[in-house]
Parts: sequence; structure tokens; C-alpha cells
Amino acid sequence: MANPRRTSTPPITPELPIQFHPRTLDSRFSRLKLFLKKPQAFPFLLSIFLILTWVFLRIHQQSPKLTNPTTNNQDHEANLIRFSSRFPSPITKDPRGWILDPVSIALDSGISGGALTCASIHVGEIKPGGLRGNHRHYTCNETFLIWGARTVFRVENDGLEKGYAQVTLEADDVAVAVSPKGTAHALINVDSSRTTYIVGCQDRVISYNSSNSDFRVWDDLNS
Ligand SMILES: *[C@@H]1O[C@H](CO)[C@@H](O)[C@H](O)[C@H]1NC(C)=O
Ligand SMILES: *[C@@H]1O[C@H](CO)[C@@H](O)[C@H](O)[C@H]1NC(C)=O
Repeated sequence: MANPRRTSTPPITPELPIQFHPRTLDSRFSRLKLFLKKPQAFPFLLSIFLILTWVFLRIHQQSPKLTNPTTNNQDHEANLIRFSSRFPSPITKDPRGWILDPVSIALDSGISGGALTCASIHVGEIKPGGLRGNHRHYTCNETFLIWGARTVFRVENDGLEKGYAQVTLEADDVAVAVSPKGTAHALINVDSSRTTYIVGCQDRVISYNSSNSDFRVWDDLNS
């Protein structure tokens, strides 16, 4: 059954565009111009500016180069992945703080060559100005967890001109890094006051000696 009300609906008039007569447009423009000259227009202009800034930042963030702001090419060359310790981040899912499994994070992030099991674990700190490592183990792979202070991480990388990759972690960063067996690594606390904390997981128990390790690999780092 046809709806009788439907017949009473007025047909869409083809004259509708007449509403946008040039003269009406002109007057709207002049009213807008007047409004923009008034001090009350300032908050309005400011919000437009803020919206445009927000849109610009969103577009920028979505560009493929910046999809993960915590990753960059240098970190990749240094076999390292860093996360923000601040909430929210992939490792800080609630306000209690961050927690992670360095071995699985390294695997999931495609950082290969680290320890897949921890036969021995070293947990320690590096005071400001201090250095650890600057050595190369030939019989174990190692996975590190580093946080707490501005810290330089250096790892051998034959693909680079200098023979190593080096990145600086910020105090808010939590980083997982790997050093496959036979690659040298060093950690330097370059913070003025904070302490660097590290966990080192090795996939074989070794007592550091000259038959399985090289020491003082890089001359420019004093150890
Ligand atoms: C270290 O990693 C390599 C491959 O990445 C693996 O073949 C080896 O078994 C690992 N562990 C030791 C102790 O060499
Ligand atoms: C060095 O350490 C290894 C274990 O990693 C041990 O088997 C070897 O005997 C040690 N060598 C020396 C010279 O102490």
C-alpha cells in the first residue's frame, strides 16, 4: 500500500540554488570580514589554527617513516629497539609502569642474534660517567635490557663505515639490544646524575677470560 503522506511531500524545487544568489554570498562575505576584524574573532581564529596544526601532525605521524616514533634506522643498525617508559606505550599498558620480556621483545621486533634462553643473567648499574663492556665474547650471544639514564650503546656492525653502530638512549627510554657472539659491545652512562640499569642475558655460562673474550676493543672508550 502506498503511503498517502508521501504524495503530500513537496517536490524538490529546481529553483533551490537561487538561495545562493551572488548578492547573498557577497553580504555573507562582508559580514565574515567584519567579524574577523573584531577582537571576538581571535578565539575563533586560534581554534582554526589549532585544528589545522592537529590535522597536520596527524598526517605527519601517519606517514610510513614515522609510524613507530620510538624506532629509527640507527637503532636498527645497533640491534636495538627502544620504548617510552611513560604511559601509554607498548611496554607501559597501565599506570603501574612498564614491564617486558626482553627475549621475546627482541624476537618480535626482528632483532636477531641475541640470546634466546638465559643461561646466565647479569643485573647491574652504571653510575654517571661509567662504562661497561667494551668487550667481545666469542662463545655466547647476549640480550640486554637498558634503562634509567642517558646512555650510549655501541655494538660492532661490519656493515657500517666505522665498524660499529652507536645510539644514545634518553633517561625515559627502555631499550632492548642484542649482541650476537663475536660482536663487541659497550655501554656508557653519559647522564649527569642518573644511574643506568642493565640486565644482560647470556645463552651460555662463561667465565670471562682471554680465550673466550677480547677486552678493551675500542681505544676511544676508556675502561
Ligand atoms: C648463538 O646464536 C647462534 C645463531 O644466531 C646459534 O647458532 C648459537 O647456538 C647461539 N648460542 C651459542 C652459545 O653459540
Ligand atoms: C676460560 O673460560 C672457559 C669457560 O668459558 C673455560 O672453559 C676455560 O678453561 C677458561 N680458560 C682459561 C685460560 O682460564
